[in-house]
Amino acid sequence: MRSDRAYLIVGASGTIGSAVAAQVTAPGVNLGLHYSTNRATASNLKTQLEQAGSACECLQSDLADETACRDLVERFHARFGSISGVALCGGNVHWKPWQELDRDAWQRVLFEHCVAPFTIASAAIRRMSADAGGRIVFLSSIAPKYGGSAKTVHYAAAKAALEVAMHGLSREVAHSGICVNGVRAGFVDSPQQRRGRTSEEIAERIRKIPVGRAGTADEVASAVVYLLSERAGFVSGELITVAGGD
Ligand SMILES: NC(=O)c1ccc[n+]([C@@H]2O[C@H](COP(=O)([O-])OP(=O)(O)OC[C@H]3O[C@@H](n4cnc5c(N)ncnc54)[C@H](OP(=O)(O)O)[C@@H]3O)[C@@H](O)[C@H]2O)c1
Repeated sequence: MRSDRAYLIVGASGTIGSAVAAQVTAPGVNLGLHYSTNRATASNLKTQLEQAGSACECLQSDLADETACRDLVERFHARFGSISGVALCGGNVHWKPWQELDRDAWQRVLFEHCVAPFTIASAAIRRMSADAGGRIVFLSSIAPKYGGSAKTVHYAAAKAALEVAMHGLSREVAHSGICVNGVRAGFVDSPQQRRGRTSEEIAERIRKIPVGRAGTADEVASAVVYLLSERAGFVSGELITVAGGD
């Protein structure tokens, strides 16, 4: 990444978000490391990335709160004075059998995986310089391709909504040099995967991946970092799938 750039990584305390932050870091690059509950992980990441030459700020925020989403962007902007790009890697699956989905379950997942990332992205776009442009990268999933599983129908629907919103937003802001894109990740072993599946179910899930293994956070992060970079200035409204053939 070029120096004098400032990137906000939402979900930097998570498996994929921390891999994105580690790949974006470079001397002179400023990084906002968002976390929700996992302060220690964000703090350790900050120490590690500062050794690589980045200035970092840990920023706590709950994606369930609309005001907090906007405030996150404002705190980042106040600290670094500019926003070059935002990677939106936060949120949990909130596993629930489709028969038990009620209004609250729907609202929570739709907010966390569509409304919150969209709110953060639009607040960041308002702060992006008309001269410098910017990058927004949403983390989606291959779940919309299949409609999710028995316990992730709501999650799949929320990611599908996010993808449509991503596409619409990309067309609105492309003329300002702001590229809005997404990455559809396949299975990566992470705490949220472990919350919803037994070890046997995870092994079974991995067996179904055409390449025969789980993806790594670094493999997904590479696509996110490409879309955040200057090299992706002619890529707008796209989804890159990193899912081992799924
Ligand atoms: N892992 C996969 O197989 C996979 C596949 C496709 C898509 N994805 C997507 O990739 C993104 C990251 O997933 P991951 O696997 O890296 O998960 P993870 O390791 O469980 O990390 C989740 C991240 O989201 C944050 N978060 C969760 N709920 C939040 C809330 N209410 N408010 C603010 N932050 C919240 C967590 O913060 P704290 O830890 O600080 O609480 C953490 O930084 C998610 O959007 C997920 O849907 C993952």
